[in-house]
Amino acid sequence: MKTRITELFGIQHPIIQGGMHFVGLAELAAAVSNAGGLGLITGLTQRTPELLANEIRRCREMTDKPFGVNLTFLPTVSSPDYPGYIKAIIDGGVKAVETAGNNPQKWMPMLHEAGIKVIHKCTSVRHALKAEAIGCDAVSVDGFECGGHPGEDDVPNFILLPRAAEELKIPFVASGGMADGRSLVAALALGAEGMNMGTRFIATKEAPVHEKVKQAIVAASELDTRLVMRPLRNTERVLRNAAVDRLLAKEQALGAALKFDDIIEEVAGVYPRIMQQGDMEAGAWSCGMVAGLIHDIPSVKELIDRIMLDADGIIRQRLTGFLTA
Ligand SMILES: Cc1cc2nc3c(=O)[nH]c(=O)nc-3n(C[C@H](O)[C@H](O)[C@H](O)COP(=O)(O)O)c2cc1C
Repeated sequence: MKTRITELFGIQHPIIQGGMHFVGLAELAAAVSNAGGLGLITGLTQRTPELLANEIRRCREMTDKPFGVNLTFLPTVSSPDYPGYIKAIIDGGVKAVETAGNNPQKWMPMLHEAGIKVIHKCTSVRHALKAEAIGCDAVSVDGFECGGHPGEDDVPNFILLPRAAEELKIPFVASGGMADGRSLVAALALGAEGMNMGTRFIATKEAPVHEKVKQAIVAASELDTRLVMRPLRNTERVLRNAAVDRLLAKEQALGAALKFDDIIEEVAGVYPRIMQQGDMEAGAWSCGMVAGLIHDIPSVKELIDRIMLDADGIIRQRLTGFLTA
């Protein structure tokens, strides 16, 4: 397939692996890039710019294909060393950056001067248009279904993607709820030029996370996610577990008076315990409704090859088969 996204990033298939905290390490990014997609190292999972530089080096040892780095701009007061992370990305010769969270405008000149293509992740048409206006090369449009932070508008992809297509000039990928060849063809039909997957890539052989995390995704249905932190306007879609039930009970009890400190036990610093140690009740971790469509743990290459083969079959046989002339 050739789309504006494959052309922009110099990749074979229009499939991107979204940044994922404590999942997007060099092993997964390299596996996705080797299979013809765009793999992304998650910048902030590396505690310092030096560690990110090292992770970029490790990834380059594992693939000679293009890969990128996710940089999430957090809404916190004491911000991470973003200039240092960006220097590590530029010095590491990375040519694709997925930005997310706060507006990346301040960093655009530095990134573009280094020849880096920027894809910004947005959950609304107005944010996507803003990203276009500040010079982003593409956007990743994350619908309400998505694992992680779906924003506060709650617009699912069946509406959000065609709305994005109506307004945007730059290319975009569909993100949230994407799992297979059907997702890719649907995304293309709705106006996207590719798709971004998070949760689906966790349940792969190469994802460097505890086996229990992969099994939890396979076992989960589309009914098993919950939205947390809505009262803080920092909504996150997570897999339901005992910690999430406790968190939701606190949200209900405290109502508008809820503060981050009240739920710190359920959300702060839980990722290493879950992803590395497999302590599945340690806290709230992002997971998409798409878990309901995930039934196996293939290698990344098996997954991507299957997606492309199925997409080809759907387009050439199922869809053209409906045409009467
Ligand atoms: C475990 C997990 C961690 C994530 N961490 C991040 C992150 O650190 N930064 C970010 O921009 N997006 C993050 N995301 C969002 C993904 O990049 C992607 O947008 C989302 O998973 C797409 O929805 P899907 O899970 O339905 O495919 C995370 C998602 C998951 C499932």
